[in-house]
Amino acid sequence: MTYDFDTIIPREGTQAVKLEMLGTYFGDKDLLPLWVADMDFATPDFVLEAIRARAEHPILGYTLRSEGFHQAFLGWLEQRHQWRAEREWIRFSPGVVPGLALAVQAFTQPGDKVLVQPPVYPPFFGVVENQGRQLLENPLREEGGRYHMDFDDLERKAAQGAKMLLLCSPQNPGGNVWRPDELERLAQVCQRHGLLVVADEVHADLVFPGFRHTPYPSLGEAAAQHSITFMAPSKTFNCAGLGTSLAIIPNPEIRAAYDKHLHNAHLHFGNIFGSVGTQAAYEQGGPWLDQLMDYLLGNLDFAEAFLAEHAPQVKLWRPEGTYLAWLDFRQVEPDGKRLKELLVGRAKVALNDGRSFRGTGEGFARLNLAHPRAILAEGLRRIAEAVANHPLENRPSPTQT
Ligand SMILES: Cc1ncc(COP(=O)(O)O)c(C=O)c1O
Repeated sequence: MTYDFDTIIPREGTQAVKLEMLGTYFGDKDLLPLWVADMDFATPDFVLEAIRARAEHPILGYTLRSEGFHQAFLGWLEQRHQWRAEREWIRFSPGVVPGLALAVQAFTQPGDKVLVQPPVYPPFFGVVENQGRQLLENPLREEGGRYHMDFDDLERKAAQGAKMLLLCSPQNPGGNVWRPDELERLAQVCQRHGLLVVADEVHADLVFPGFRHTPYPSLGEAAAQHSITFMAPSKTFNCAGLGTSLAIIPNPEIRAAYDKHLHNAHLHFGNIFGSVGTQAAYEQGGPWLDQLMDYLLGNLDFAEAFLAEHAPQVKLWRPEGTYLAWLDFRQVEPDGKRLKELLVGRAKVALNDGRSFRGTGEGFARLNLAHPRAILAEGLRRIAEAVANHPLENRPSPTQT
């Protein structure tokens, strides 16, 4: 079956966050929404079918996840990530961010230090700071349009008594699919200092040709024993609204503590539609995902070529995975506030503000590539036009003065 990613599907009237929150975040509701990380493609038919089939039964009471749900996920890990996890390691989370928050609660105390690697997905900061833990930053270093981990800095910060590291793998917003050698070095530092690694692998399935995702616990026994890894069908199959994610916890003591917190908050039931939708996604989703990645690669190539031709001062960092592109506007407008004015006020597009990712994010904006190509083209056209008319652009370059 050939799937259609070109049709523009209006989301008005569905309370979609990327539309409803425009006014709140950007002060303007009339923007092309290229921000929040969900896709403007239809959730695959086999996921919708499974949900419809369940809705045929007239009782939607408390319900457990089936053995088929768990086996589907284990099968997916084996097929797509060539890794065999064990059934008893798998736990539920109502979302990846709720899972991160729960892990911070369960395994650190107020005042404890938690490491993050900015620029990174903004809720990483919130789950630490809003729960009274202390954020320790191990900033990523920029080199040749790619982020790199700074292991010397990590070693120093870990030695300051940090308890936990929140790892974003693949990386949002930089699009890194971390290589095994990078993850192994990270694991060695964390093991040396007794840190628990909480790996957010929500983008694990969205990897471009030539790259391969390495699940953190697949690095080896030592890494597996000091980690909690979160994965989900939400990004891969565009079903974030189902609120269904999975935790992989090989260490029995860590698992028991996680269970206690999940159960105390009564979050373990999840929801019926998330359970059946996830099972269908992992059982049937391979061919759909292959076609999605082809389309996303086409969008990425298109965006890169368009910007190179029409706005060469804007540098697109080619992601190795995720459907997010990190756009470097620093040659156009290095000031984050003025860049926002340019993108919102002039271009009339909503992109995620680079400053919200902290670290060296100022002067960047995050573009969501997961749109029908015609929408992406319109967004890029608006950006190129605004950039061409931006006063900084019309300033003489140093060589001309
Ligand atoms: C790195 C990362 N983690 C987590 C999430 C959200 O996960 P959830 O909706 O399951 O909390 C996102 C969404 O953009 C993300 O990019």
